[in-house]
Amino acid sequence: MADPISALTPRVQAAMAAALGPQWSDADPVIRPANKKQTTADLQVNASMALAKTIGKQPRDVAQAIAEHLEAPDLIDRVDLAGPGFLNVTLKSSWIGDEATALLDDPLLGVVQPPQETVVIDYSAANAAKEMHVAHLRTTVVGDSLARTLEFLGHNVIRQNHLGDWGTPFGMLIEHLLEVGTDSDEARLLETDPNAFYRAARAKFDGPEGAEPALGAGDFDARARARVAELQSGDPQSLALWSRIMELTRGYLNRVYRELDITLTDDDIRGESAYNDQLAEVCDSLQAKGIATISDGALCVFLDGFTGRDAKPVPLIIRKSDGGYGYATTDIATIQYRSLVLKADRALYVVGAPQNLHFRMCWAAADKAGWIQGTEPVHVQIGNVVGTDGKILRSRTGDLVSLQSLVDAALERAASVVAESRPDLDEQTRADIAHKVGLAAIKYADLSVGHDSGYTFDLDRMVAFQGNTGPYLQYATARIRSILGRADTVDPKGPIVLTEPAERTLALKLLDFGAVVDQVGITLEPHRLATYLFDLASAFTTFYEECPVLKAESTKLRDSRLALSRLTEKVLVQGLDLLGVDAPEQM
Ligand code: ARG
Repeated sequence: MADPISALTPRVQAAMAAALGPQWSDADPVIRPANKKQTTADLQVNASMALAKTIGKQPRDVAQAIAEHLEAPDLIDRVDLAGPGFLNVTLKSSWIGDEATALLDDPLLGVVQPPQETVVIDYSAANAAKEMHVAHLRTTVVGDSLARTLEFLGHNVIRQNHLGDWGTPFGMLIEHLLEVGTDSDEARLLETDPNAFYRAARAKFDGPEGAEPALGAGDFDARARARVAELQSGDPQSLALWSRIMELTRGYLNRVYRELDITLTDDDIRGESAYNDQLAEVCDSLQAKGIATISDGALCVFLDGFTGRDAKPVPLIIRKSDGGYGYATTDIATIQYRSLVLKADRALYVVGAPQNLHFRMCWAAADKAGWIQGTEPVHVQIGNVVGTDGKILRSRTGDLVSLQSLVDAALERAASVVAESRPDLDEQTRADIAHKVGLAAIKYADLSVGHDSGYTFDLDRMVAFQGNTGPYLQYATARIRSILGRADTVDPKGPIVLTEPAERTLALKLLDFGAVVDQVGITLEPHRLATYLFDLASAFTTFYEECPVLKAESTKLRDSRLALSRLTEKVLVQGLDLLGVDAPEQM
């Protein structure tokens, strides 16, 4: 890896072994970025503190001994003993420049692919015949970024869109579809405005509020209920109608995914219904193993460590007393499938934080049955998005705000921002830019804070070209492109030679990209990448303010600065792509 910490690590380990004995050759040298308030050094080596305790010496003496054996003339400029016993290391500018120059030709930009894993990612997972709302938007955006990042790291990523495509609502949805006709305009609402279709079915099911059921219409709910049973028993007509609903639903989802530039396709759909055939067996098997028992007519799993307020075990119901299976049964089947069939090393569930208990219980039950083998299940918890009033986003009717209305609002805002900033461009170009800016605003807001913390959906802030926003990073990228566009070389190769502090800071930042992406792959926290890109863009701004590029004093300097700009552009574009954000050519 080209990042300084990875480069320095084996050198310090060699010094520790030489100074203190071979048993320390692979001890953690505890290298961190230096404290910029106290020193101009780049890195701080803290190993001596812990080592001194173990070997019974003074930390300063240990540090001194390590420093004396630290030999890396290519990498290190100077080493200073500081504080109670740590080492401040200043790297050679020539080393930083050479590494940065080499990155220009590295398609992975310094990312070192770890041993390949199979990673299953469950994300998006909307519910059929209902419009996606703001919570689905966030699991879609975060899940997609993780999928892109893990793929870039070389892992075998298997996307699983666990659609809510089964259960009691399908009784009324099918009956409504039958009444309006499978090819009618009303049916097509499933593609264009699924909530409207759902509401119409629901209204028939509930009947007019407070009124006596109208003659003849009152049996809709009875038919809907009967339909659920028929569907579950595999009645061909019911299944055909269900398939039609799902076909139209896929049309809706694909439209949303394409509009939002999300990598999910039909092949990734494996909804709740896909597990139907496993559910009876899951229950029988858990009962046979003595893990599930009948309680009040329902089949339940009681697990150690999951107790309610009265200290009594909380049951995980896997078969209701009427014989129906629920959400939990399906999720025991999902982890079984993802572990034993897909052979996942990690199975990520990118789902709202409130479902944490549900997942922990399902996994504990499955694990007890021996159905999780060599797989680490992970709940990537998604926090709430709240409105500027601090409350959960709801529309005027009290429903959760729909995804489409949020996207439309962001696109509209982006269009007016772009119209204002670039009146010189033609309408089509402006529309393309506005689309990308609107998406960046939404996606970056979802990704730039910890995925488990909430944030305020504040369009004015999200769309702004200043501050830690997606559009700011797009703008920074476009600005670099415009500088490069004014140069005569298309693909400057440097070499990158560092003379000014701002150049050095920018180059060092660029060397960190690989380590940051690596960390996101381990911690599953895309906000680390977002923060990095923001810092990178800021470092570029300082560099550009302090160092003339096109008007540099010499050709050599100009070539070097152009190459530095080009590398920054590459890293920004690649980093944004991992967040699912596309940078327009100009802004
Ligand atoms: N459809 C569910 C919802 O809207 C999310 C499903 C998440 N995935 C899972 N395996 N349970 O809340």
